[in-house]
Amino acid sequence: MRVAVIGATGMIGSRLVAALSDNGQNVVAASPSSGVNSFTGEGLERALAGAEVLIDVTNTSAFGDHNAFGFFRQSGTNLISAAIANGVSHYIALSVVGTDRLVESDYFRAKMVQENLIRASGLPFTIVRSTQFFEFCSGIVNMAAEGNSFRLSSAMVRPIAAGDTVSALTEVALGTPLNRTVEVAGPEDFRLDDLARILLAASEDTRGVLTDRTARYFDVGLAERTLLPGHEAIVGKIRFEDWLYQTMSH
Ligand SMILES: NC(=O)c1ccc[n+]([C@@H]2O[C@H](COP(=O)([O-])OP(=O)(O)OC[C@H]3O[C@@H](n4cnc5c(N)ncnc54)[C@H](OP(=O)(O)O)[C@@H]3O)[C@@H](O)[C@H]2O)c1
Repeated sequence: MRVAVIGATGMIGSRLVAALSDNGQNVVAASPSSGVNSFTGEGLERALAGAEVLIDVTNTSAFGDHNAFGFFRQSGTNLISAAIANGVSHYIALSVVGTDRLVESDYFRAKMVQENLIRASGLPFTIVRSTQFFEFCSGIVNMAAEGNSFRLSSAMVRPIAAGDTVSALTEVALGTPLNRTVEVAGPEDFRLDDLARILLAASEDTRGVLTDRTARYFDVGLAERTLLPGHEAIVGKIRFEDWLYQTMSH
């Protein structure tokens, strides 16, 4: 099966290309460095020629800034047009658990638009919403830095190893379109502030974490369960502390 991965050089994209190739699929690894730009449309016809499955794992480096909306709207519009023109029979995109509860944030409003374009496209699709990657959690903590400490909400999170999200995407790509959203999350719940304490201790960072129920996450106030998936989420295998131990020992 020919599978076009758009955003193939990213954290998820590079692993997804490897996983699908190992599974014997004919993978087109598409990203700006290979002349494929979903925002401008450059190279899309070539990347999608003969592709049965398209997986959109692009991201904008403008994470959290006001360009995210423009990026995901234009990129999604271009990808959908090219997918229709090339007869793609399964359109898959990676989104974020809780996106619909976080739309006060420019980034998550952009992800909502990306999802809605797909739902309205008429293409057979599956939207995979993942929780925060373990690999991204330090970034979340760093965004909460205030002087010599960190201010974080005690809302619940269920982060996941990027590798487990890739396994879920691979399964979805090998299956038939579900025409709905599926969620994938890690095996354990944490509170955001406690997760920060674990990460800081692991890197011998002595700065303190202040728990503040009103602390914002991507400019959005969090309720206890805003970031948690529903009961039917696919559950990743890798535990956070095992991942952390492995990461620290390399
Ligand atoms: N971070 C999290 O915890 C998390 C959780 C759930 C879901 N997600 C979602 O997962 C997706 C992938 O995230 P990631 O962390 O793997 O992203 P990433 O590492 O930043 O990779 C983004 C990829 O998109 C490519 N890209 C950027 N602009 C492009 C364009 N105009 N045309 C084609 N490709 C373009 C990049 O290419 P270059 O290498 O050339 O820049 C790169 O290959 C995102 O949509 C994000 O919303 C993230």
